[in-house]
Amino acid sequence: MTMNTKEQLPYQNPQLSDGERIADLLGRMTLEEKVGQMLQLDARQGNLKHLIVDRHVGSILHTSPKDLPKAAELVRKRTRLGIPLVIGDDCIHGYSFWPGATIYPEELGMASSWDPAKVEKAARATAEEVSATGVHWTFSPVLCIARDTRWGRVGETFGEDPTLIGEFGSAMVRGYQGGAKAGEPLATDAILACAKHFAGYSETQGGRDASEADLSHRKLTSWFLPPFERVAREGVGTFMLGYESIEGVPVTYNHWLLSQKLRGDWDYKGMLVTDWDNVGRSVWEQKIKPDFVHAAADAVKAGNDLVMTTPQFYDGAIEAVKTGLLKESELDEAVSRILAVKFRLGLFEDPRLPDQKRIDTVIGSAAHCQTNLELTRESMVLLRNGSQSWGCLDTAGNVGRKRQWSIWGNNLTKAGKPILPLDGKAIRRIAVLGPLADDAQTQLGDWAGNSGQVSWMPEGQPREMITTVVDGLRAIGKDNGFEIAYAKGAEVVELVDDPAGPTFADGQPRPKVAQSAPVDHSQLDEAVAAAKAADAVVAVVGDVIPLIGEGRSTATLKLQGGQLALLDALSNVAKAQNKPFVVVLMSSKPQVLPDSALNADALLWAPSPGMEGGRAIAEIIMGATAPSGRLPITFPRDAGQLPVYYNQIRGQHGERYADLTQDPAFAFGEGLGYTTFAYGDLQIEGGDTPFTVDDTLHVSIDVTNTGSCAGAEVVQAYVGDLVTSVSWTDHELKAFGRVELKPGETKLVTLDIPVSACSIVDADANRIVEPGEFELLVGHSSRRRDLKRITFTVK
Ligand code: NOJ
Repeated sequence: MTMNTKEQLPYQNPQLSDGERIADLLGRMTLEEKVGQMLQLDARQGNLKHLIVDRHVGSILHTSPKDLPKAAELVRKRTRLGIPLVIGDDCIHGYSFWPGATIYPEELGMASSWDPAKVEKAARATAEEVSATGVHWTFSPVLCIARDTRWGRVGETFGEDPTLIGEFGSAMVRGYQGGAKAGEPLATDAILACAKHFAGYSETQGGRDASEADLSHRKLTSWFLPPFERVAREGVGTFMLGYESIEGVPVTYNHWLLSQKLRGDWDYKGMLVTDWDNVGRSVWEQKIKPDFVHAAADAVKAGNDLVMTTPQFYDGAIEAVKTGLLKESELDEAVSRILAVKFRLGLFEDPRLPDQKRIDTVIGSAAHCQTNLELTRESMVLLRNGSQSWGCLDTAGNVGRKRQWSIWGNNLTKAGKPILPLDGKAIRRIAVLGPLADDAQTQLGDWAGNSGQVSWMPEGQPREMITTVVDGLRAIGKDNGFEIAYAKGAEVVELVDDPAGPTFADGQPRPKVAQSAPVDHSQLDEAVAAAKAADAVVAVVGDVIPLIGEGRSTATLKLQGGQLALLDALSNVAKAQNKPFVVVLMSSKPQVLPDSALNADALLWAPSPGMEGGRAIAEIIMGATAPSGRLPITFPRDAGQLPVYYNQIRGQHGERYADLTQDPAFAFGEGLGYTTFAYGDLQIEGGDTPFTVDDTLHVSIDVTNTGSCAGAEVVQAYVGDLVTSVSWTDHELKAFGRVELKPGETKLVTLDIPVSACSIVDADANRIVEPGEFELLVGHSSRRRDLKRITFTVK
């Protein structure tokens, strides 16, 4: 039955408060409509009438391509109460699955910039693109802490440090929501953000996706919850709940996480959404619920709001009410929170349908391309440049082994001096080699174009919008008179059928499995010949989509396929012919690198860099841009070192493995530029007298550019509590700031650290500041040798 549109009902009256409208609407909804309101189903299969009319769904996801929101609106109008749908999608580093949208570096690349302002700008631009198309909500940012880097989704995270993750997460929330705080209306060009995956999803066993997470309340409070608490304070509109169980309880039913922490301690009023079929998985996968009736009843009682893609929730919840397992009134809170989101977005008055004019103007616009380029440049981390490196040990971790420098036979380089930037005037030919050198779609990373989640972009994002390394160097070469030779040199993986069968237990198709590709000798020979004929060799290697993402964790972190043979061969050619050998690692996450890469003349990490990746890399190689990224995550020398994050708990016997150092290949915070910096004296204003927990440390230090070109330094401030009542980490990042300096220039960098942030978590999982002596460490990276030290006291 269709509502008589002439008579305005209270819930349709914008003059009334949201609370009054929700109460009125709730009173009119049937049990079926309430249960349906709690469902979010996949719109990719079409069949909108079934979803919206028969199942009364409150939300759909995966609606692209572009006509779906309009089609859904037509169906929605035929429903009894006409409740608008809230439409969500994964727009996580740009508008992932919209052909022609701007695709930015993945989150790990964003974090490598250590520049939250640029990331906020990218999120703002994404919101402008997404909101123009009738989508209201992005499932972003990811706030998981990446510790076991075998996990396939490391590239989707901001890395390993809670402070850094909290700052970047908040920046993205501000960008998406246009600065709207908790409950405030969202502007037309803003979208709802979603903090995910709450909490501890990344703490996998053996890196295996969505396995039981071995987390105590204390460990959660110490590291995994702070970024979520930070964005809750920032006003993030929604939270998505992780798949995993903790101490036997899936997050979906975890009273401590949902009621005590999120709704209780943090007083969070926004909407929760489960992850994909969390409720169903508790029946068919985790086997902790006997059937969908119990699963649905318990999910409602635990405080879930929207239930993502568990169609059985519909019959299950209705049956639970009919059999007395659940009271209808118990649905009301969840339904009210979902309706509150819709009123907050103003969807009852304006369903925010696609706006063709805005689509034409903002999607993939020149301004967004520029925003992307600026962020991508800063996301590149130079790990080695000639003799400048923190990672000069070999893969076996032999301490003290020094790189032997030869005198180059040409005038491109001088012994022991930085190799990058290459001298474009002296070079005639650069060989750009490797499977990632000209692979436009892989360069975008996961959740973009043809990365596997959607069917409508088999060719991926438009090729002409993407600059590969080959494209980028060719463009610079054209103006500078040098040529580019390209050869792929190696395959990375071959896809074969999964021996376990074509579908998973829930009927979803099983992707093919990736097998390391054999060395292809004709490809290798071609690359070697190109290297021999060139003045400089640039190898671009890394990981590819079948080795990245959900359900695709890796047992090894080594470069796959013919890449090791390729690097060895190219390194030999470069050594024999005294020519510069530059390795670009284009990967979603840290890899375990062979000696040929670790000891290359230069090593640049480009974490899944997006559309502008090749341009930014080419600019850095040729010196048009100075690299300024810093690692948001530690690089191990071997997967056996994992977890290798910098803020480990103090205390163990010895400091090496019997067969390997524990020193990582590259540590959190590291990264080179084309200049050098010196730090002056570290000062804390009023630091001679003890501070109270309500004080803020005003920290200052002079930073001087001591080199001959401009550059940006990322000043990092760590705090260590010298004696703690329970074991704790040696030092933790508390503040950071980027500073741009001309040659010879000195700037005073100031950072504020609230004393309340100099906390530990006690044995009962309470976060506290313990009086006593602390150390403040400020400098270039998390390594003590890069940090200036001063102590202060808290009373
Ligand atoms: C499952 C993923 O874990 C989550 O990150 C994503 O947002 C949802 N699927 C929706 O696609």
